[in-house]
Amino acid sequence: MNINTAVLNGVATLEIARPGKKNAFTLEMYQTMADAVSAAVADASVRALLITGQPGVFTSGNDLEDFMQRPPSGEDSPVFRFMQALAACDKPVVAAVTGAAVGIGATLLLHCDLVYVSDEARLAMPFVALGLVPEFASSLLLPQLMGHAKAAQLLLLGEPFTGADAVEYGIANAVLPPDEVLPHARRMAERFNALPAGAVRDAKRLMLAANRDVIAQTIRTEGALFATRLRSPEAQEAFQAFFQKRKPDFSKC
Ligand code: COA
Repeated sequence: MNINTAVLNGVATLEIARPGKKNAFTLEMYQTMADAVSAAVADASVRALLITGQPGVFTSGNDLEDFMQRPPSGEDSPVFRFMQALAACDKPVVAAVTGAAVGIGATLLLHCDLVYVSDEARLAMPFVALGLVPEFASSLLLPQLMGHAKAAQLLLLGEPFTGADAVEYGIANAVLPPDEVLPHARRMAERFNALPAGAVRDAKRLMLAANRDVIAQTIRTEGALFATRLRSPEAQEAFQAFFQKRKPDFSKC
């Protein structure tokens, strides 16, 4: 199913595993992720979630073929279900990121609690370059984290950034050598076994409370625009250019 899940020592691991396509997310993968987050929240033996990819790639984001053939249909679509489950998850979520984290691969980190990245990680939110708009509250959370100017660099220009940049911007906690990212993230997730689960849950809820309504509203506003833009000539040209391995030409869009 391209998503491997396992619960071990109080940690539910969600491993993105589609290496042939750089871990690009399909509809089915989002659905599995949504179900896995819900199952982890419901399982009293789970104290923390751990999201990881493959060695050298976290995820290249939404499958661009899916964007063309099976675009998200609204708030019932699997990507919405996954991101809403993640944003509402009241157990700690830890992420281990090596290699590329593109599009939703970078966006989802804004909804995790602890993020560990490798020194060769390359993150990017190239929505505008794809004819799209930011998604899942990144247009709100990034300017909050780093200020408008820096967020504009990432969201409007779509500039890629390194693991060290992610720490500087407040997106990630620490940079580690690639082989150490997953073991370190796992150790951090397992620390919640020794902490009182009720207090962890209430503290996380408090941390999210002030932003909760505005996040929900922003996700709806972004989602409506994103759906419109997916059908735009600009986005179609960007997707075709990717698969034809050429630069997009927006001059006729
Ligand atoms: N959707 C669909 N297929 C994708 C994909 C995506 N998001 N990302 C990678 N792939 C496929 C490529 O088409 C290629 O398939 P092929 O072997 O059949 O030609 C394969 O995965 C390997 O990708 P490739 O681009 O050759 O790997 P790379 O190491 O040179 O580059 C990335 C890796 C992640 C930088 C690059 O694949 C990329 O930019 N992907 C698109 C990212 C993106 O725009 N995501 C959407 C954001 S909203």
